[in-house]
Amino acid sequence: MSETLALILGCGYVGRRLARALAAQGVAVVGTCRTPDRAAGIAAAGAEPALADLLDPDSLRPLAERRPAVVFDLVRPLPLGGDEYTVEGTRNVARVFAATPPGALVYLSSTSVYGRREGEWTDEGTPVRPSSPAGEARAAAEQVYLDACRDAGLPARICRAPGIYGPGRTLRERLELGAYRRLDDEEHWVSRIHVDDLVAGLIAAWRRGAPGESYLLCDDEPVTGAEYAELTASLLDLPLPPSVSREDIRHDLSKSAFERRVGARRCSNRRMREELGVIPIYPSVREGVPAALREEGAL
Ligand SMILES: NC(=O)c1ccc[n+]([C@@H]2O[C@H](COP(=O)([O-])OP(=O)(O)OC[C@H]3O[C@@H](n4cnc5c(N)ncnc54)[C@H](OP(=O)(O)O)[C@@H]3O)[C@@H](O)[C@H]2O)c1
Repeated sequence: MSETLALILGCGYVGRRLARALAAQGVAVVGTCRTPDRAAGIAAAGAEPALADLLDPDSLRPLAERRPAVVFDLVRPLPLGGDEYTVEGTRNVARVFAATPPGALVYLSSTSVYGRREGEWTDEGTPVRPSSPAGEARAAAEQVYLDACRDAGLPARICRAPGIYGPGRTLRERLELGAYRRLDDEEHWVSRIHVDDLVAGLIAAWRRGAPGESYLLCDDEPVTGAEYAELTASLLDLPLPPSVSREDIRHDLSKSAFERRVGARRCSNRRMREELGVIPIYPSVREGVPAALREEGAL
């Protein structure tokens, strides 16, 4: 097993940022995509690009044979169309890497597994109770890894992230296009995480996390969805986006997209801070959004 090789399955937005951070720590990184046109972006992030499709186990085996110290699985449950998803890709990863285990496997999941929380505080002990097809698929994917950890010794840990933002992932474009609608709903709390704090959490889950455990990776201070939109609009000197009710958006969105807007989870990062030793650089969007907009060149 290479002590210093990390494999990133699904080296997209988060993956490329993760690759840069790992490379800066002297870790060799292989990052996967499905089509060759993505390879240059992965190489520019300091990783060796490789082609892999989770639905094709033969594309995963040569990567497992390189015996990475850690595998980061950043691939979401694969959409089948019509708000349906499959976790067959996750099953393939679990099977292939259980046969040739890395030192650790870190799965990036989402807080959609908790379902609607109506503004309640949420932590790793909160029961998994998804309220959407995407959330159910996430919970099923987590279970695939937890089963493989228990039954086959795959050293998998689960990281659950709320909304991820950062340079290139802000509300700027949608606000500029007038395409964003504020949810006028007092209960609409959102926890978020800046991509760089997420990356720190993923690396810490590898180095300090334990197999079979779950970690919520989120900022310190949730804000309401309206505040998030108002903050971005005011920093960019753009008009406030229109305000709508839950009912206004319900029929325009799939069940999963609607539940993403109304999940209202206030997430605790106590475990991330105390067990993984990660203190967010951006305690809330009030610090993180200006930094992201500056890096985008918008401020
Ligand atoms: N956005 C959020 O707020 C949020 C919140 C919580 C969790 N997450 C999760 O965080 C993870 C990373 O997000 P991201 O923004 O970095 O996503 P992204 O930029 O869309 O990248 C996704 C990556 O997954 C790869 N992929 C998709 N289907 C695949 C398949 N069948 N086999 C192999 N690779 C496949 C894509 O490959 P190609 O480049 O070839 O398409 C791409 O490299 C996702 O699982 C996402 O759901 C996101």
